[in-house]
Amino acid sequence: MSQQHSAAPAPTSAVSAVEGRPDWWRDAVIYQVYPRSFADGNGDGMGDLEGVRTRLPYLRDLGVDAVWLSPFYASPQADAGYDVADYRAVDPMFGTLLDADALIRDAHALGLRIIVDLVPNHSSDQYEWFKRALAEGPGSPSRDRYHFRPGKGKNGEQPPNDWESIFGGPAWTRVTEPDGTPGEWYLHLFAPEQPDFNWEHPAVGDEFRSILRFWLDMGVDGFRIDVAHGMVKAEGLPDLGDHEQLTLLGNDVMPFFDQDGVHDIYREWRLVLDEYSGDRIFVAEAWTPTVERTANYVRPDELHQAFNFQYLATHWDAAELRTVVNRTLDAMRPVGAPATWVLSNHDVTRHATRFANPAGLGTQIRLAGDREVGLRRARAATLLMLALPGSAYVYQGEELGLPDVVDLPDEVRQDPAYFRGAGQDGFRDGCRVPIPWTRTGPSYGFGDGGSWLPQPADWGGLSVEAQTGEPGSTLELYRAALAVRRERADLGAGDAVEWLRAPEGVLAFRRGEFVCVANTTGESVPMPAYGRVLLASGEITEAAGEAKVPADTTVWWSAS
Ligand code: GLC
Repeated sequence: MSQQHSAAPAPTSAVSAVEGRPDWWRDAVIYQVYPRSFADGNGDGMGDLEGVRTRLPYLRDLGVDAVWLSPFYASPQADAGYDVADYRAVDPMFGTLLDADALIRDAHALGLRIIVDLVPNHSSDQYEWFKRALAEGPGSPSRDRYHFRPGKGKNGEQPPNDWESIFGGPAWTRVTEPDGTPGEWYLHLFAPEQPDFNWEHPAVGDEFRSILRFWLDMGVDGFRIDVAHGMVKAEGLPDLGDHEQLTLLGNDVMPFFDQDGVHDIYREWRLVLDEYSGDRIFVAEAWTPTVERTANYVRPDELHQAFNFQYLATHWDAAELRTVVNRTLDAMRPVGAPATWVLSNHDVTRHATRFANPAGLGTQIRLAGDREVGLRRARAATLLMLALPGSAYVYQGEELGLPDVVDLPDEVRQDPAYFRGAGQDGFRDGCRVPIPWTRTGPSYGFGDGGSWLPQPADWGGLSVEAQTGEPGSTLELYRAALAVRRERADLGAGDAVEWLRAPEGVLAFRRGEFVCVANTTGESVPMPAYGRVLLASGEITEAAGEAKVPADTTVWWSAS
């Protein structure tokens, strides 16, 4: 461990809390910042914490409640920072701990909460513990903190089991021992630069509780837990056997994913979090087979929220959406946790592009599709998401209606999955292109030093500057929707929707005085005018108590 980083800047009352409701997170809208690509404060072409800090007023004005930052810790960046070499240090490329401190303080002063990413399933291969494990050789206690095993075969030349890395290829890499001979193998569910911790070892738990405290003392309001379903592996690391790993992933409990033992870890973490004031939260990145299994992560003594990936993966189809909404609410109700809704993040093709393509292509798409249709549906999907009870996540740039960049040249790609050819993955760079702030300029206002991934030539027109004050722009739609959500308690509150009769392909539901109608078809549909139109993602025409809801459009009504 790099002990030189173990003292956080002394916390003061100014950083420790944001005024507000204690259960703020139950209906919060949380904005994901991907620090590399949000704003570049020092002009080196790479986003940083100073860039984020200076743009906080934009986020406050957008109307979100909290900001989740993807990792900014010291890292060799083998997986864009999800390979952490020092959990208590900021990577120089993003700034310093003092920048993190300033960011947290400024956010709180603006009434925004800060959630940081925690990566406990694996470390970087440059983490002190792993370097020591390699240097100290087989049989040393430091190897027990990871999963080292002898190989199979006559000379140990085959991996210890048949698990595959999520990024492609075997989930094991053979090391060269200190004496120069080929030796043991270690487990990495992701890239070889990301060795999995052995959570059976007590030192691992101790270390992570200490890391939690470090950032809680810094004043953060919560943690997004990376690969929250992966830390515990089935006893004996059993082979998958005949099963095809790719078809099982996300559809079944795996010997390395969604093992029941992970819940013991979260019960311990919850005790740590609850020692701190200020209603701080955990949100799980847990890709489980069903939303019912996701609910296990948010039992009252565990985590607060879990991303609803079943919702993210649902097509723009009324029947499918209704099913997943019902199933989510039904699964969360018994554990008393809020549902969450999410359409995009840094790991999937942006929803404006997913919805521009035919359904059924999955969440990793490299086709532009019909951009006009995609944007129309994306806007409608956002209004639908923001009308559902619970908490919603917005990924940076979706408020600008950004499409995925599907034509990045291969030589600029950085996603490790791309290089390992996982097949189902590897195109995540397309949703990570730095976002445009201004109409013109070398990187559309991202920073003075260009942009680490090239931005498309037409992004000036999608910039914050171009859309601000522009009636009907996607940015103004988000601002208006979030303003309505703030004014009206009935939008995010509760745990139920009352479905209304609607033609095929149309979703209609009431929540108190509020009515939401989403037309997922390609045709305009007549609907009763439910009252006063609060907001619509397209042009609504009304006559004689009837409203025409255009194709791929969502409308919000207030009965009062
Ligand atoms: C999570 C992150 C993803 C990363 C992986 C390994 O799924 O969201 O970006 O590659 O974990 O840490």
